[in-house]
Amino acid sequence: MSNAGSYLLDLQEKLGGSISAERFMQEALYHPAFGYYSSRIRTVGRRGDFSTWATLDSSLAQAVATWIKKEKPSHVIEIGAGNGALAKDVLRRLGWWTRVRTTYHIVEISAPLRAKQKECLRGFRVVWHDSVEAALQSSRGHAHIFSNELPDAFPCRIFQKTEAGWMELHLRIAEGKISEQLIPSTLPESSIFEHPHPIGQRVEIHESYRRWLESWGQGWISGAILTMDYGDLSKTLYHRRPSGSLRGYAVQQRLAGIEAFQNPGFCDITADVNFSDLEKWGTDLGWKTESHFTLTDLFNQQGATGSLPMAFREAGEAFRALIQRRSNK
Ligand SMILES: C[S@@+](CC[C@H](N)C(=O)[O-])C[C@H]1O[C@@H](n2cnc3c(N)ncnc32)[C@H](O)[C@@H]1O
Repeated sequence: MSNAGSYLLDLQEKLGGSISAERFMQEALYHPAFGYYSSRIRTVGRRGDFSTWATLDSSLAQAVATWIKKEKPSHVIEIGAGNGALAKDVLRRLGWWTRVRTTYHIVEISAPLRAKQKECLRGFRVVWHDSVEAALQSSRGHAHIFSNELPDAFPCRIFQKTEAGWMELHLRIAEGKISEQLIPSTLPESSIFEHPHPIGQRVEIHESYRRWLESWGQGWISGAILTMDYGDLSKTLYHRRPSGSLRGYAVQQRLAGIEAFQNPGFCDITADVNFSDLEKWGTDLGWKTESHFTLTDLFNQQGATGSLPMAFREAGEAFRALIQRRSNK
């Protein structure tokens, strides 16, 4: 049995016979020895297991650079920079004068990706940090922050509506196979439960992302945060998606449902983001929502709809951005 397999079996034993889907994802993605992001990922993009919008098209870089030039912050913090392509494209588009006046920070927890970023960004002035707290300390709390496809890389809790109410998805490993179990559990705070759902509906909640925002939110004094990711507002997030949105990616192949958990450490596991939750969690931290927009809005603004790659035309409404502001007044 692999190291990951025996580690997960021990963990299952300690946890009483099953592992919540969220804890399983945490281990599969971030375990220091076998986690996908911690050790196995090679890159992001066509040569990796999955591509992101930023690795396929420069429109996001254009939007981020326009935002930075308009806002004129002294410090910009990008969180989770993947292969560094977005940072490079943004820095190029900022132009020499803005580059000189702005310190560009990257917060990256994946050692293999950090190495990729350093290679990609050779010649640019970039400061790397292990945590947002460290990046904020070096900016004295005043910074503009952005991320692309970051919350979807956080472990999520998964719930299913049953005749007996909402149950949490757990996984059980036996004889090398993983099966699903539904277990009664306390519900996290999420706008998803404010809407009616049919019996059988599965939903994902990025509660670990909320805890992570809270862990550094107090150290952020002023600036704005731009969050871009696949997702929707909670009212429409699960329209025609009774099985939820969880999926895995390995060698550019999509793995649906339980398949995503079969080879922990060897594939990315992700779920769409509930932007109503992100807005509410920011409001709880004292941030003011400034705007919500979709990829289609972005392209229309840039007058570039014609050049939208085919694969993303349908994704126009499913890819969203949220801008929230932290003010020290
Ligand atoms: C899905 S990839 C997106 C990469 C890149 N932004 C892009 O659009 O191509 C998620 C990125 O977030 C990083 N990441 C995940 N959790 C993180 C955390 N807590 N702090 C910093 N980076 C994180 C991953 O290592 C990876 O670089």
